[in-house]
Amino acid sequence: MISTLRWEKNKLKLIDQTELPLRFVYLDCADVSSIWKAIYSLKIRGAPAIGVAAGFGVYLGIKDSPAKTHPSFKKDLGRVLSYLATARPTAVNLFWVLERMRNLVEENKDKSVSKLKRLILAEAKEIMAEERKSSQKIAFWGNKLIRDGDRILTYCNTGRLATVGYGTALGAIHYAKEKGKRMEVFVCETRPFLQGARLTAWELKQNKIPFTLICDNMAGVVISQGKVNKIFVGSDRTVANGDTANKIGTYNLAVLAHYHKIPFYVFCPLSSFDFKLKTGEEIPIEERPSEELLYIMGRRIAPSGVKAYYPGFDITPGRLITAIVTEKGIFKPPYIRTLRKLKNG
Ligand code: MRU
Repeated sequence: MISTLRWEKNKLKLIDQTELPLRFVYLDCADVSSIWKAIYSLKIRGAPAIGVAAGFGVYLGIKDSPAKTHPSFKKDLGRVLSYLATARPTAVNLFWVLERMRNLVEENKDKSVSKLKRLILAEAKEIMAEERKSSQKIAFWGNKLIRDGDRILTYCNTGRLATVGYGTALGAIHYAKEKGKRMEVFVCETRPFLQGARLTAWELKQNKIPFTLICDNMAGVVISQGKVNKIFVGSDRTVANGDTANKIGTYNLAVLAHYHKIPFYVFCPLSSFDFKLKTGEEIPIEERPSEELLYIMGRRIAPSGVKAYYPGFDITPGRLITAIVTEKGIFKPPYIRTLRKLKNG
């Protein structure tokens, strides 16, 4: 199995996802700014993978701090956390990891600065191990929703590249393949950055799972023709009422699923839940540079001077979601109270 991220010799080695599928190259990040740039530019992407990368980013940002006392170390740490928090606003995994690091240092006030640095690195490794386990469990539970012969439509990339394990929505599909189930997968290309066409197609091809690529605006007709019997997507942030932020275009699919009466499943680890927010309206939505919309693979597709609007995510109302698949199982409404309890232990 490919590993999206690896910690090796004090560097974070990650697959540069902007180069796929044309080139398979690793990028070495040896400092916090290269991690920030990799997250911002989508070289590493997908909510769980962003969180894991940020954990190592915290260590790289703090490892050379000259601080000798706890208060000055905390100040340096605060700067690193605030910096990483600006990389991408929507995936809550990033903020969950930064908060976890802040709490870790707070809870270990009595420890020396060098011990704190070691604890931060150990925590980053622990987060990676936890996310790997979660993604295996999500795949396990998700497989229970798949019947032999299913025709599943998926969006963006929620596979190995977006996590540090099987994946979430796509992870279930990988797992079902291992269990011998036959499926046909419809992959939306996911304009404008083409995570579906470039990354999901690449992963499915590697795993020899039959699939058909469609443009995003073909989903309606393909569903109306009965070619799809369920939809699997991921989440960047799911809030207290079940509203879910995911790649722009996910909402369209949820509406289509509702209209055509097919189930719409969201897959995510508990680290992608934000119970502090009551509704999706409170979720910060990333606005990406319009160049990403105006250019495809480096080539301009609209006349110069054209104005473009590119919110990176949309909100799917919780009431359009049939069930949410997490590492703790499959939750149908009213699921949120149970999930909150599970997340907070
Ligand atoms: O902008 P991206 O590629 O980071 O967006 C990714 C998604 O929207 C995924 O569906 C989500 O992060 C879940 S990944 C398991």
